Formats: sequence, structure tokens, C-alpha cells
Amino acid sequence: MKILALGAAGFIGSHLTHRLLKEGHIVTAVDLQSEKVAEDLDHAHLTFLRQDIRSPAWDLDGMVRDADLVIDLIAYANPGLYLRIPLEVFRLNFLENLKIAEACVRHGKRLIQFSTCEVYGRTAASLKNAAVADPEDPIHATFSEDTSEYILGPVAKHRWIYSCAKQLLERVLHAYGLEQGFNYTIIRPFNFIGPKIDFLPQKDDDIPRVFSFFMDALLNGTPMKLVNGGVNRRCYTYIDDAIECTYRIVENHGGVCDRQIVNIGSPYNEVSIRQMAETMREIYAARFRDPAVPLPEIISVPGEEFYGEGYDDSDRRIPDITKARTLLGWEPVWGIHDTLETTMRYYVSERRNAATTCNG
Ligand code: UGA
Repeated sequence: MKILALGAAGFIGSHLTHRLLKEGHIVTAVDLQSEKVAEDLDHAHLTFLRQDIRSPAWDLDGMVRDADLVIDLIAYANPGLYLRIPLEVFRLNFLENLKIAEACVRHGKRLIQFSTCEVYGRTAASLKNAAVADPEDPIHATFSEDTSEYILGPVAKHRWIYSCAKQLLERVLHAYGLEQGFNYTIIRPFNFIGPKIDFLPQKDDDIPRVFSFFMDALLNGTPMKLVNGGVNRRCYTYIDDAIECTYRIVENHGGVCDRQIVNIGSPYNEVSIRQMAETMREIYAARFRDPAVPLPEIISVPGEEFYGEGYDDSDRRIPDITKARTLLGWEPVWGIHDTLETTMRYYVSERRNAATTCNG
């Protein structure tokens, strides 16, 4: 297939582009920078276009017209940005993505739209006076694509603008499907993690996702900070598992994913952020430690101090993957320990390579 991959050089996009090329597809990859796809840049079937899709000058229509399939990964997906630049988060994640979707509608092209598990918001069990018998029962935190209700915080908690923007985009795709037969598949990723997930923070105002903060703390011996005690929980999904499922959605045998929303995540890898910090510190001490650097302490910081005003959080989210199992025969195989260790190994070796280059 001729595939137009937008946002192809981000974390998920770079792994997916690699897989698409390996499977023999012809890929036009569009992104702002190309570092994460560097190993594939010379591939005969890859055309890389360095392009800001917000620029009015670029030929979105022409590129969509020439493709058999469009995959849209363009997003601001770091919570730090939802707090700092909420308007830009809305513009990119809704307005700009809508233009891409509408180009697909105009040209009758199938679209795979990356959305987010953040659309589910908080659990009912986390609400004040929640009337649930056992708030710890995972059933209260297990989210299904077509039946779960969404619970978000108030407008003043502007973290939720991202979730809302993504949710509205999903609803518009659904409406185009209903009214005009538009063919899309929406993917809701649950905390994918692996090599190239984020940059390590370089400056005080850099805000990547939690793995990168913890990795940076381990490499430098600075504190690992738990926002509000690190009690919130996530299900971490290794990128190879995630790409395997995504690729089956690309293939879409028998049209099983037409107009479907699909959770991709590992329900077996649930950890609290505190457990994640402790596990990473244990793995680091056992496998990677530089004896000259002290192991970091783990401390708690208030959310509003760490992120700023308007902070709120998803307390817990477990993917119901029945759909991915039944439609695609997919099952995640990576456990949490190997997921963290393999991802950490990548960053440790990157740091050592950088040090060797500087010293050499
Ligand atoms: C983010 C995005 O909002 C999602 O769209 C995306 O699906 C998800 O990442 C992802 O990686 O897939 P979130 O899980 O909240 O969601 O991202 P993180 O910034 O990694 O935060 C995870 C938890 O760690 C939060 O509770 C946060 O408060 C906490 N945290 C973060 C810390 O305790 N310490 C830190 O140094 C950073």
C-alpha cells in the first residue's frame, strides 16, 4: 500500500514507520524533525517530508489523494503541555487533525486516527461519595471502547482540554461515518513505552512523560518526584506489542476494523507511579548503576507545584482489550519488568554513547 503517515517521526510513528517499511509498504512520512526515523531515511520506499502541517502552504489534499491509507499520529500528548499551552493543544489536536480527517472524507480514503485513553478520564470509584462496594475492584477502572462513560474534571482543570479535543475529534469521525459512510479506525493507546519515548529533560521547563523524568533522575542522581505521592495507576504497554496490534489494524483483514474504536494496551501491566519509580530504581541499581552517581531518593511533590495551576489526573485506567483480541487475535506479551528494563537500557546506552562522543 501507499501510506501517508503524519507525525511519523514521533515515538509511536517512528516504530510504526519502521514496521511498515519492513512489510513492504511505500511510506510518505511527514513530521517536523527526522531524528527518530534516522535509521530508515535511506530506505528506497520512504519519502520523508519535513513539514509543519499547520502551515497553510502545504499540499494536504494532494498527499491524501495519492495515498491508499492515511495514518494520523499528530498530537501534543504530554500533560505538561495541556497545562502550559491549552489553546495550542486544542488547535493541533482538534482543528488541525480535523482538516486531515476532512481531506480523507473528500477523497474517500481510509483513516487510522490515533486518539488516547485520556478520553475515558477518571474512574467512577474516584468520585467523592462514590457508591461502589469495592473501590479497588479493577472492574471500576476497566474501560471499554463502546460502553464506558467518560468522567472529566471541571473547565478550571485545564488538563482535560486534551481529552475533550480528542473526544470531539472521535465524535466527528463517527458522525462522518454515519452520514457519509466515511471509513476510519480510532486507536486509543494506553501508555505505550519503549526506546525513543521522549527526550530526557534538558532545561527546567522541559516536561516530558514520567518515564523520562525518572530515567533522568537515575542517570543524574537527582530526586525521583512522585506527583501527589504517585498513587495514580497506569498500564504500561511495550511498544513492540503496540506496533503488532497497530499493524493488524493497518492490514484490516476482512474490514474488521472499519468504523471501529480499538483500545491498545496491556491490562496485565498495571502499576502505581510509586511502584514504577521503585521498580526502575531497583532495576537501575542491579543492572545499570554508575557507582560514581548516588541512587536517587524518591520524594512526593504537590501536582500544582510540579505542573502548575489547572492540574488534575486520571486516577486509574485499565484497557478492556476484548475487541483487539476478538477482531485481531492480538494479545500483549511483554511484562512490566522487561518493558521497563528494555526501555531503560536504551536510555543508558544513549547516555554512554553521548559521553563517548563528547570525550572522543
Ligand atoms: C499521557 C497522555 O496524556 C496520554 O494521552 C497518553 O496516552 C499517555 O501519556 C501515554 O504515554 O500513553 P499520562 O499517563 O498522565 O498521560 O502521562 P505522564 O506524564 O507520564 O504521567 C503519568 C503519571 O505520572 C501522572 O500521574 C503524573 O502526575 C505522574 N508523574 C509525572 C510523576 O509522578 N512524576 C513525574 O516526574 C512526572
